[in-house]
Amino acid sequence: MSDRYRLLEHAGITLTVRGETKSMVVLAQHPDLSKRSKYIGDLHRQIKEDVKTSILGKEFIITPGVFSPIGTLASEFLAKNLIVNEGEFVLDLGTGIGIQAIIAAQKAKKVIATDVNPRAILCARENIKLNNLENKIEVKEGDLFQPVQHEKFDLIIWSPPYLPLEPHCILEQSWCCGSNNELIDKFLKEAQEYLTPSGRIEMVYSTLGNIYYLLCKAEKDSPFSVEVIASMIGCFEVILVFVLKPLRKCT
Ligand SMILES: C[S@@+](CC[C@H](N)C(=O)[O-])C[C@H]1O[C@@H](n2cnc3c(N)ncnc32)[C@H](O)[C@@H]1O
Repeated sequence: MSDRYRLLEHAGITLTVRGETKSMVVLAQHPDLSKRSKYIGDLHRQIKEDVKTSILGKEFIITPGVFSPIGTLASEFLAKNLIVNEGEFVLDLGTGIGIQAIIAAQKAKKVIATDVNPRAILCARENIKLNNLENKIEVKEGDLFQPVQHEKFDLIIWSPPYLPLEPHCILEQSWCCGSNNELIDKFLKEAQEYLTPSGRIEMVYSTLGNIYYLLCKAEKDSPFSVEVIASMIGCFEVILVFVLKPLRKCT
């Protein structure tokens, strides 16, 4: 059995033979993803003014129009399981309120936090200030790797949108990655260029997304080695934290 299948067993999904991988994905996917998207959208529409919260001992303000880690499981689970080494140069791609960047900054030498949503940029800056981390975290607006051209990171943190649906507005881009997983594809194609030779990606994913697609892309097309370092079972989904390491040496 390859590591991949052993690791999926670690997620609480029983897989004994290779051929069962596909049925795992079908079984694990929510039958109506658009209902799930609507549910997440409704959660966000309830946020009409700034909400103060504390996550993993850090203070945060969640502003309207920005992805909220409250009510979904993945953000806090990733933050809890991040492995950041002393002195690393880190990219938090799609920072939202800045949660991963702020946790990573405890150990990192420097973090660049990016987001395509201008409201997330403002919110992350506010939270970075609130946590006195302006000297360690720089925030940049833009699509995927566009704000960090020519940079090389020891660690790229990614909490991606994973529902395979078309986003209808900038906020929905927080949880919808395109009906054919276009954003996942683009990220995996480009990410190696932004890693140091020993660099890695730490990302969270859910069985509500197409994990089979992600693993195939990451292992075959890009290619990365993929390891699951943490998993949890939620009401509708299994959440996994992956570490991806390039199999080709980055220059
Ligand atoms: C699931 S949310 C995660 C936010 C935050 N990292 C967290 O853990 O709570 C995904 C974030 O990625 C951002 N995003 C979506 N597409 C993006 C893109 N093409 N480039 C940069 N950021 C993007 C969204 O605006 C959103 O803030």
